[in-house]
Amino acid sequence: MDKTVLQQEIIKLKRNQGVIILAHYYQRPEVQDIADFVGDSLELSRKAAQTEEETILFCGVTFMAEIAKILSPQKKVLIPYPLAGCLLADMAEPREVMETKKDHPSAKVVAYVNTYAQVKALSDTICTSANARKVMEKMEGEEILFLPDKNLGAYHAKTLNKKVVLWNGHCPVHQRITWESIERVKKDHPQALIIVHPECPPEVTEKADFVGSTSQLVRFVQDSPAQSFIVGTEDGTLHQMKKKSPGKTFLLPFPLPLCDQMKMITLERVYRSLKEGIYPVEVEEEIAMKAEKAITRMFEL
Ligand code: 13P
Ligand code: SF4
Repeated sequence: MDKTVLQQEIIKLKRNQGVIILAHYYQRPEVQDIADFVGDSLELSRKAAQTEEETILFCGVTFMAEIAKILSPQKKVLIPYPLAGCLLADMAEPREVMETKKDHPSAKVVAYVNTYAQVKALSDTICTSANARKVMEKMEGEEILFLPDKNLGAYHAKTLNKKVVLWNGHCPVHQRITWESIERVKKDHPQALIIVHPECPPEVTEKADFVGSTSQLVRFVQDSPAQSFIVGTEDGTLHQMKKKSPGKTFLLPFPLPLCDQMKMITLERVYRSLKEGIYPVEVEEEIAMKAEKAITRMFEL
C-alpha cells in the first residue's frame, strides 16, 4: 500500500475502533502525522493517564508504552513493535540497581523515565528530562542515586545542593553528538543557535545556547526570534519544529542522531497493530503497583 493510502486506512481503523494514537517526537514523520498527540515523555505519560479511549496505541519505545499500561491498567495498550526498546534503559539492570542501593542506604533513588518498570519499581520517584531538576530538588533527603543517564544527572547535579551519585549509563544516540560535530555545522552557520537535549555529553550541554527536553526544544524554536538552529537531539524532532516554525532553518550534526529503536515503528506495523490488536503491553501486577507509586510521586513533586 502506498504511504497516503496506508495513513488513510490507519485513520479509518483508529476512528472505528476508538483508539487513541500517541507518538513521541522521535517517531518517523509519517507516523507522527497519523497520531492524535505527539509529545515528550512527560506529556505522553500525562496524556496516557487522562485519555478516555479504551485502547492506546503507543508509537514509541517499550518503556513509554509500559507507563501508559501502568497508569491505565484497565485499558488495552498496544505497541506496534515489541522489540523497540531503549538502549539507555537497557543500561540499568534491576539486580545491579538493588545492589547499588545497598551501597547508598540513605540515598533516594530517582530514576529517569528511560528505565523499565522493574527499575522504576525499585525507585523512590521517577523524572523526565523536562522536570529532572525540579524532581531532584524537591525530593526529600540530602543524597540522590540518579539512574541511568549520567549526562542528564551530571547536568543538574552541578547546580544542586545535594550529593548526587550517578549511574554509569548513557544514550548512545546522544553520546555521539560531540562538540566537534556541532562546531563543524556552526562554522558554516555562525548565526545559528545551538539547542540540545540534556542526554548529550557535558562538553555539549555546557556550551549550548539552550538545553531542554524534546518539547522544550520545540517550544524554544517557536518563541525564539532566531531564524536558524543547530539541533542536538534525534532527527524526528525536526518534523514538529518545521511544522510549528515554518520558514526557520534546522541543522543537525553529522553523523545524524538517529534512534533505530524509535524508527522500528513503521506505518505498516501501526496498520497491522490496529488490524490484529498486536502487541498488547503487560506489566506484572506487583511491579506495576510499585512503579506506579514512583510515577505518582513524580507528579506530586
Ligand atoms: P524526552 O523526555 O525529552 O521526550 O526524551 C526522551 C528520550 O528518549 C530522549 O532520548
Ligand atoms: Fe533511548 Fe536514546 Fe533512543 Fe531516547 S534516543 S529512546 S534514550 S536509545
